[in-house]
Amino acid sequence: MSRMIGVVVCVVGWLITSAAAQPGQAAGAYQHAAVAADHVVASEAGVEMLKLGGNAVDAAVATSFCLSVVRPYSCGIGGGGFMLIYIPGDGDNQPRAVAINYRETAPAAVGPDYYVKLDDKSASRDGHHAAGVPGTVAGLLWALEHYGTLDRKTVLAPAIRAAQLGFVADADHVGLLDSLQRRFEADPKLAVSGAYIRHQLYRDGEVKVGDTISNPAQARALRLIAQHGADAFYRGEIADAIAQTMQANGGPITKQDLASYTVRVAEPLRGTFQGLDVLSMPPPSSGGVAMQQIFGLLERHFKQIGASPHNSPAYIHLLVEAMKHAFADRAEWLADADFVDVPIERLLSAAYLNERADSISMQRTNESQFYGSRTAGVEDGGTSHLSVIDANGMAVACTETINLSYGSLVVVPGFGFALNNEMDDFTTIPGEANAFGLQQSDRNLPEPGKRPLSSMSPTILLDDGRVVLVAGASGGPRIITATTQCILNCLLFDMTPRQAVAALRFHHQWMPNVLQFESAWPDPAVPSALQQLGHETGTTGSVGVVQLIRVTPEGIRAASDPRKGGAPAGY
Ligand code: GLY
Repeated sequence: MSRMIGVVVCVVGWLITSAAAQPGQAAGAYQHAAVAADHVVASEAGVEMLKLGGNAVDAAVATSFCLSVVRPYSCGIGGGGFMLIYIPGDGDNQPRAVAINYRETAPAAVGPDYYVKLDDKSASRDGHHAAGVPGTVAGLLWALEHYGTLDRKTVLAPAIRAAQLGFVADADHVGLLDSLQRRFEADPKLAVSGAYIRHQLYRDGEVKVGDTISNPAQARALRLIAQHGADAFYRGEIADAIAQTMQANGGPITKQDLASYTVRVAEPLRGTFQGLDVLSMPPPSSGGVAMQQIFGLLERHFKQIGASPHNSPAYIHLLVEAMKHAFADRAEWLADADFVDVPIERLLSAAYLNERADSISMQRTNESQFYGSRTAGVEDGGTSHLSVIDANGMAVACTETINLSYGSLVVVPGFGFALNNEMDDFTTIPGEANAFGLQQSDRNLPEPGKRPLSSMSPTILLDDGRVVLVAGASGGPRIITATTQCILNCLLFDMTPRQAVAALRFHHQWMPNVLQFESAWPDPAVPSALQQLGHETGTTGSVGVVQLIRVTPEGIRAASDPRKGGAPAGY
């Protein structure tokens, strides 16, 4: 088989334009529509659909399929995701919102003690046992069929083009491949499961910034999907290839698992903050409940928040206390609500939030057991978020994942895409934290068909039925804290999206009980002041990667997080 990465001569106009367009895209306001993804080629794929007359869903679907190619380690057709869609009302129709759940599911063979019995802690992270049944193709095509206006071939065209003709490797891409190479060197077992990525996609370390990368095998998969729809993936040639690699390597996914995959559709979770309606994702996302709890707790301490400068010790302390409550409840209560009882109403009730808010002291933080309510006692690489607003005010917030970078490291033979390792988002070994250090309860044990708990938090804010902000992030549990901080940066500190996503961030997920500051944090006095309040502090490379769009009187302002080198597009 020919190498998947080839140096393609840059005769293709769009490719040169895309690379050249990156700097400055976020500076101005777009007058009609915008797409913010974590790669400019993907943002531009969305805008291409809008200019063809498509709507926000057409743009989101095209952007997502394109991300599968240009950010293959962050998301893709081997993974899953959540999409929130808001359709504004017009003369004849009321406004509508929908939450599409195309999270991966546990295969039929995986029950609560599957990983305990395997007796291999890495089984839910690397290799064939780690993959859940992918949902992305089903979810995107469901969204397109029910809410889009363009045909499948049109929306898949930019992704097929990027896969076939290539795109330019940026610093994020090469940095990720370098870190993967270090993992392969440190663990020979990984080098076996990740052999295809290492040799074919990474060319044993030869890929450099500025090289053009193509992936004709994934182009073939995308062409089959364009021709035959979801059946190509769940029943046809691609399903055969997934089932064969699973069978050959002892993995659990069968053709029956693939054929039975279904998209779930729900009402978004609704709340309010500062007079705006907040639409977010219900379980198995934990992000919607957590962010609504954080906003609720902040609202109850609004006097302090309103008087505290951005990223001052008092602001950080209050926000961290709210985060600790939200993450403690996440650990205890959140899971797939189709399988276990998730007390959403109680967790978001005024009585509960009043009680939790009253317990927050501005003088001191507390021990871990103080937070949330109980009955008993990385990295961002594998996720990607995109935000879209179209010229009619329709909006999409969409977060997709293969979990960790390049997911399970298993690439489906002949089709050039990595299968997720989303099974690690379940409680695979009771009592042990997952790859993100998250403690989770038995509610989140794997069961056939169940979807693992997620932190993905696509969010849409409305003012009187009009979209004013669309946001979301990648970064495991940091998705929740990063998205929250960027929204607060806009609403409380009146930052532009670009300022809001670039501002330094902090993170606390209750356990481990450490308040982490991004390592570029300039002022040591701030962590010191937090230590005086009892917080253990530390540093971390980055807290999430956020894509945010805001509608302002001057137009639509969009920003892709500089931490990953993405850029928005619009017109
Ligand atoms: N795989 C990351 C998440 O869903 O939270």
